[in-house]
Amino acid sequence: MQGLLLRGYGGLRAACFMLYGVEHPAAAREFLAALADRVTPASRKPAQQALHIAVTVPGLRRLGLPDAVVAGFPLEMREGMVTAHRSRILGDVDASAPEGWKFGGPAGPEVHMMLLVYGGNSSLLAPIVRELAGEAKEGGLGEIVRLETTDIGRAEHFGFRDGISQPRLEGIGSATHGQDETLRAGELVLGYRDEYGLYALRPMVASHEDPAGTLPADAGGSPQHDLGRNGSYLVFRQLEQDVHGFWRYVDAAARHDGRGANPEARIELASKLVGRWPGGAPLVLSPDSDDPALADANDFRYHAADAYGQRCPVAAHVRRANPRDSLDPRPGTARSIEVANHHRLLRRGRSYGPRLPMDDALAHGGDDTPRGLYFICLNTNLSRQFEFVQQTWVRSPKFAGLYDEPDPILAGGSFSIPTETVRRRLPDVPRFVTVRGGAYFFLPGIRAVRYLAGLGGVGSGGEPGNSSRPVGS
Ligand code: HEM
Repeated sequence: MQGLLLRGYGGLRAACFMLYGVEHPAAAREFLAALADRVTPASRKPAQQALHIAVTVPGLRRLGLPDAVVAGFPLEMREGMVTAHRSRILGDVDASAPEGWKFGGPAGPEVHMMLLVYGGNSSLLAPIVRELAGEAKEGGLGEIVRLETTDIGRAEHFGFRDGISQPRLEGIGSATHGQDETLRAGELVLGYRDEYGLYALRPMVASHEDPAGTLPADAGGSPQHDLGRNGSYLVFRQLEQDVHGFWRYVDAAARHDGRGANPEARIELASKLVGRWPGGAPLVLSPDSDDPALADANDFRYHAADAYGQRCPVAAHVRRANPRDSLDPRPGTARSIEVANHHRLLRRGRSYGPRLPMDDALAHGGDDTPRGLYFICLNTNLSRQFEFVQQTWVRSPKFAGLYDEPDPILAGGSFSIPTETVRRRLPDVPRFVTVRGGAYFFLPGIRAVRYLAGLGGVGSGGEPGNSSRPVGS
C-alpha cells in the first residue's frame, strides 16, 4: 500500500505535484517499473522524502490496460471529473467551470499520471523534483504542469488550523488525538470490506492475464486477481482562495454588527463560517473564544450540546462536511453517527502561494498572486463519499433542514448564525473559492504499480488505447 493512505507527511513540509501525459507507453512502463521500488510504502515512515504515483483512467488505457479491466472501475472514474453532469453536482460552473481550468479541463492536454513528491523543506525537495522530471521525460512522459506548494504552517490560507479531523481505519495505524470513530478499512482502501460489509468497485484481472501472480487474489473470493487491492481513489482539485475578499467581506459584516474595525469581531464571525477557531478549537466545545488546549480536539458531537447551532452554526463548513451525530433519522444517536460515517474522506491537501495574513489583506488590499489549496482526498466510493459530501452536504442550500444556505467557505450564498435570541443572517456571502483544475486518479497499491509496468508483455491485451487528444505539452 502507498504510504499516503497512512500518513499526511506533516513533517515533510515541502511538496510538489507533477502532472503528466503518457507520450510513449513502452518507455512510460519502464519508468513505472523503476518507480515501483521507490514509491514510499505504508510500512516505512520516511525521514527525508516521500514519493507517490497516481494514474487517471485515460492514463491506464494509454499504459495498455485492456478495456475489459478498465470496465471494472466505477463510472465516476471512467467518466472523469469533467462531464456536464459532474460539473453541475460539484458546482464547477461560472468562474469554476472546467473550460477555464489550468489543467484537467477540456481545453488542455489529457492528464494521465501524477507524481506526488514530498521533502523536508523546499531546498531538499528541489533536486529530487529536478531529477524525477528528467527521468520522467526520458520515460516517455510529457509534463503538463508542475504544481509547487508553499509551507504556510498548520493553517490554510484563511488562517484556520487544518488537517485536524481524519477518519481512523480499522487495523491500520494507531489512534491519535486527531482521529475519532474507527471505520472499516474498505472505506478508504480498495479490496477490503467497507461499512456496509461490501467491497467497493475496483478493477480485476483474469488470472491468465497475471501469470506471474504479481497481483493479490480477490479477497471477495472470485478467481480473479485484484488490481485495486491496497489502492484508493484520489480526488485532486486546485481550489484558489480569495483571501483578501474573505477578510474584506468578514470585516464589512462585522462592522455592520456595530462593532467597528475590531479584529476580535472579525475572528469571531469568520470562525462561525468555519466552525472552528483559527487555533483549531471546535466552536461546539468552546463557543466564546479560541482555546489552545482544544487545538486538536476531535472527540465531540453536535446534537446534545448544540442541536440548533447556537454554538456552531448548522451551515458552518466543518459541521456540514462531517455532521457527526446531527442528522436524521435520530440525531444524537449511534445510528446518526453511523449514517455520517458512510461519507468520510481522508484529506491530504497542501497549500500553495504566499501567506496573506488578515491584517495585511485588509491594510494593503488584494494582490494578483494566486494562493489556495491543492485539495486532495482519498476514498473508495467517489459517488457515496467525495461527490456526496460536495453535493449533498457542502454545496446543498437545503442541508440539514436549512432553507437556502450552502457552505459559506466554498460556495457563498446566505448564512445564518442562530443565537439565544435573534438569528443573525448574512444574505450575500460571496464565493471565496474558485476551482482552477482537477482530476480523479487511481492511487494503485505497490503490486499494482508493478503490474501496470509489466503491461505490453504477455497477456497485456494488445496495444495501448489511442487517445484522440494531445498528450503532454
Ligand atoms: C479552500 C477550500 C477549503 C478550506 C479553506 C477548508 C478549510 C477547512 C478547515 C479550516 C477545516 C477544519 C480543520 C479540520 O477539521 O481538519 C476543515 C475541515 C474539513 N473539511 Fe474543509 N476546507 C476546504 C475545502 C474542503 C472541501 C472541498 C471538502 C470536501 C468536499 C472539505 C471537507 C472537509 C472535511 C470532511 C473536514 C473535517 C470535518 C470534521 O470531520 O469535523 N473541505 N476544512
